[in-house]
Amino acid sequence: MPRDIPAPTIVNPLRQLSLEQLRRRTSMKWRTYPEDVLPLWVAEMDVPLAEPVAQAVRDAVALGDTGYPYGTAYAEALADFAGKRWGWDGLAVERTAIVPDVMLGIVEMLKLVSGPGDPVVVNSPVYPPFYQFVGNMDRQVVEAPLGADGRIDLGVLEDVFGRVGTGAARPAYLLCSPHNPTGTVHSAEELAHVAALAERYGVRVVADEIHAPLVAAGASFVPYLSVPGGGNGLALLSATKAWNLAGLKAAVAVAGPDAADDLARLPEEVGHGPSHVGVLAHTAALRDGGAWLDALCAGLDDNRRLLADLLAESLPAVRYEPAEATFLAWLDCRALELGDDPAAVFLERGRVALNSGIPFGTGGAGFVRLNLATSPELITEAVRRMAAALGPTALDRR
Ligand SMILES: Cc1ncc(COP(=O)(O)O)c(C=O)c1O
Repeated sequence: MPRDIPAPTIVNPLRQLSLEQLRRRTSMKWRTYPEDVLPLWVAEMDVPLAEPVAQAVRDAVALGDTGYPYGTAYAEALADFAGKRWGWDGLAVERTAIVPDVMLGIVEMLKLVSGPGDPVVVNSPVYPPFYQFVGNMDRQVVEAPLGADGRIDLGVLEDVFGRVGTGAARPAYLLCSPHNPTGTVHSAEELAHVAALAERYGVRVVADEIHAPLVAAGASFVPYLSVPGGGNGLALLSATKAWNLAGLKAAVAVAGPDAADDLARLPEEVGHGPSHVGVLAHTAALRDGGAWLDALCAGLDDNRRLLADLLAESLPAVRYEPAEATFLAWLDCRALELGDDPAAVFLERGRVALNSGIPFGTGGAGFVRLNLATSPELITEAVRRMAAALGPTALDRR
C-alpha cells in the first residue's frame, strides 16, 4: 500500500447491530429468556464478525474446506500475536497443541498434571464452569478467595497451597488470567509470587488466559508462562472471547519449557476435537484481526465509563470498579438489600438478564455480572431497567 493512503479505520463493532438484528440470533444469550427480557448475561458479544474472520469462514465454505483440522497455523498466529501484543517471544509452537475449546483444554491439562480426587485450587468468585468441569472430572475444587480488592490474596493462596500441597496428592491451581468476573489483570510481580508459591508447595499451575486480548487502555496483560518460575505451567488461549467465536470451537494449549513432557502425553485424539473451520477463524482473528480488536477495546473502554456514570446517577448504592480487562462488569449490589441473588430481582421486576453472583462461589452472593459487550444504548436501557426494578425508592438508597 502506498505510504500516503492511511489504513481504513474500523468503526466501533459494539455499535453495529440493532436490537432487532440481535433478536434474530439463535444463540444462548438471545434465546434463553423471553423477548421482553434484555439479555446482558452470558459472555457473547453483540458484534458482527470481524471481516478477516468472516472472510476466512466464507473461503472455507466456498471451497468445502470443512474437514479435520491440521497443522500449526493457529499456534503460529498466536505466537506472533503474543510477541506483538505482550512482548512475549517464549510461545514455542512445538510446545503447543490444539484442543476443542478452553474448558475442555483445561480438563485435559488437569488430567496431565493431577489425578482423580486431587485438589484444584481456584480464586473465588470465579467463572462458574470452573466448579462444574473440575467437579465432573473427579477432582476436588478448593477455594482460595480473592481479596476485597479483587486481587489474588497471596497470603490466602499460600495457606491453601500449604494445606493441599501435603501428602501424596498432585495438587493443581487453575488460574484465571485476566480474572472472570472481576476483570483483574494480574501483575508480573503477583504472577511471579504465584509461581514461587507453586514451586514451594509442589502445585502445578494451569492458566486460563482466554480474556487476555481484551485489556483496557493503559493495562498490560502478562502471560503466566513468561514470568520467572512459570516454566512448568500450562496455559490455554484462544480467540473466542475477543472475537466472539464461541460457535467456532478451537483453542490452543501451551506448555512452558518445563511442562513440555507433560503436554507431549496429551492423547493425539484430543486434537481431533476442535472444528477445522474454528481453527481457520481463530487463526485469521489473531493474524489479521488486530485493528478490529483495537476498535472493540476502545468501545469497551467507553462502555465501562458509561456504565460507571449511569450507575452513579441512577443506582448509586451499587459499587462498580471499572475493570482493566474483559467485557464483564462485576457489580456489588449488597447495599441494595435485595438478598443473595439481586439478579433474580432485576430479571423478575426489571426484565433484564444479568448473571447471578452465586454460582461464582464464595464472594459472589449479593453481586451480579453484567456483560458490557453491547451498544451504549442497550447498556443505558439495562441500567434503566435495573433502577426501575427497585421502584421509586431506589434512588434514595445511598
Ligand atoms: C474464563 C473463561 N474460561 C473459559 C471460557 C469458555 O471458553 P470455551 O468456550 O473456549 O470453553 C469462558 C467463557 O466465557 C471464560 O470466561
